[in-house]
Amino acid sequence: MDAKSFVLKGDICFNATPQEVVCVPSGYAVCVDGVSAGVFAELPEEFAVLPLIDCGDNLIIPGMTDLHIHAPQYAFRGLGMDLELLDWLDTHTFPEEAHYADLDYAGRAYDIFADDLRRSATTRAVVFGTLHVEATELLMDKLEASGITSYVGKVNMDRNGGVDLEEDTEQSAADTRRWLADVDGRYEHTAPIITPRFTPSVTDELMGELASIRDEFGLPVQSHLSENLSECGWVKELCPWSSCYGDAYDHFGMLGDRTVMAHCVYSDETETELLRSTGTYVAHCPQSNAQLSSGIAPVRRYLDLDMNVGLGTDVAGGANLSMFRCMADAVAVSKLRWRLVDDDLAPLTTQEALWLATAGGGSFFGRVGSFAEGYEFDALVLDDSAIRTPRELDVWERVERYVYLAEEGGRLVHKFVSGREINLS
Ligand code: GUN
Ligand code: FE
Repeated sequence: MDAKSFVLKGDICFNATPQEVVCVPSGYAVCVDGVSAGVFAELPEEFAVLPLIDCGDNLIIPGMTDLHIHAPQYAFRGLGMDLELLDWLDTHTFPEEAHYADLDYAGRAYDIFADDLRRSATTRAVVFGTLHVEATELLMDKLEASGITSYVGKVNMDRNGGVDLEEDTEQSAADTRRWLADVDGRYEHTAPIITPRFTPSVTDELMGELASIRDEFGLPVQSHLSENLSECGWVKELCPWSSCYGDAYDHFGMLGDRTVMAHCVYSDETETELLRSTGTYVAHCPQSNAQLSSGIAPVRRYLDLDMNVGLGTDVAGGANLSMFRCMADAVAVSKLRWRLVDDDLAPLTTQEALWLATAGGGSFFGRVGSFAEGYEFDALVLDDSAIRTPRELDVWERVERYVYLAEEGGRLVHKFVSGREINLS
């Protein structure tokens, strides 16, 4: 029998829509060849032959996608959280990333990152490396070994990186081609993504060259957009020809439904329409936006416009790897935005935060983030029994509570990506 065909029995919860969750107590989630065959209150006869994993009273929810995270910044998370973006990059981030020229350091740092990500609730991730080809390949090797599915980018930056973290324009393009040739066909679950760091790091010439490489290889793209007011002002100076910051990417054809733009805190109407009409993914990174004093992205507006949007931890702008923490932060900052900035945009609900973390971001990888029939079977089995209460809670209340209290006794028992079980030890 195929190892990727089985049934999970437990208290199942997933989103039917961004606003609505489906809960099936003591239900059956069926995985056939790594793909969901649906969730059932009674197990249909045709699946009775499959191996059954009885998860008892544990919760079963879809896997989570971290749509924006920097692997090399994992080493200094929780440090230097008192600067704004541009000073933080110069003071903490660029000096740390320069260390990844040293493969020994990179190996030790990426071992820790890949290990912790493997044991987290994240099943899929869209990851920044550094500009170094060898270190980025090492990162890809380690993420592949972790079993999770990811896109990983060798970063491109040919201006404003200082002496230690800046490429020559031609070398940056040549290194990107060398990297793509090296990793071609090397992995099952790890794929390259074109990664211009952000407009202040990439000249127009290099951006055009990266667009050509993207077209040639048929690759997705990730970058940063409208995160911080000083950054937005700088882009106006660097690209006076652009109608908005987003246009500095769109001009080169870099937006689209295979592109993730992190943050979008300050996207005005023109830029929002550009993101919506191109189907570009917004990675909302609530903790990072708070810690770097960047602001609060109008996620409610993006949801109302039916845009592609998910959540990112943005480590080390955000300190925590946990997607549960990320969901709780998304709800919290949306309430502050509603109270202090714009009472037209209602706060996010916890159901919507769950949707963003699962189906919202998951769709960047295809049919991912739901147990509806035909979705890739990404699942988390959660033991919440040590989060004690005298109350009787229904399945949704237990999921809601887990979002806020995961770190206070929650335990990840199993994790599946496309039906393959990830080793959590
Ligand atoms: N903009 C350009 N680089 C970065 C980065 O490393 N982190 C964040 N949060 N924003 C950026
Ligand atoms: Fe980032």
